[in-house]
Amino acid sequence: MKTSWQSLYDEIFACEKCELCRRIHNKVPGQGDIHARLMFIGEGPGADEDMQGMAFVGAAGQLLTKMIAAMGMTREEVYICNIVKCRPPQNRTPFPEEAAACLPYLREQVALVRPQVIVLLGATAAKTLLRPDFRITREHGQWEERKGVWLLPTYHPAALLRDESKKRDAWHDLQLVMAKLKDLEAQ
Ligand code: URA
Repeated sequence: MKTSWQSLYDEIFACEKCELCRRIHNKVPGQGDIHARLMFIGEGPGADEDMQGMAFVGAAGQLLTKMIAAMGMTREEVYICNIVKCRPPQNRTPFPEEAAACLPYLREQVALVRPQVIVLLGATAAKTLLRPDFRITREHGQWEERKGVWLLPTYHPAALLRDESKKRDAWHDLQLVMAKLKDLEAQ
């Protein structure tokens, strides 16, 4: 079912479907161009995101901004959100039940934005949206098409901050995204 942005955000702000909402400062629904051709989906808010109510504004977010700029775009031209809208305690990986509880909101976001391409940032996004046994190291950079939307898993920017040697592969993945957007534009 497709709702409006207002009712979707109202639902997210009122949500108590899992325990994550108990200890947060702010819900972090996501932000960006609601008509974007390109969407980025991360894992869940960290401390900075929780304080500001905005997705990807901390250190990983600053790297994401640079990655988007290297693709010739700005953050304002894409839509950025996460699997879960509430910060997990100590930045732990969201439990599958928490991701499942939050998934209907993400599905609505995708239905409203109708992006052509979605970049899945990291294993949590790929496991939640592709399959639970997804292995990011082995399977990043491989396209999957779902209901006319192209999904590409790549490394999470936080993983790139921890291990710079992954940046080369990540850049290769982002180049695939740029080429796909160009192809789709030409169609
Ligand atoms: N990591 C994420 O997955 N999402 C954010 O919004 C910030 C850090």
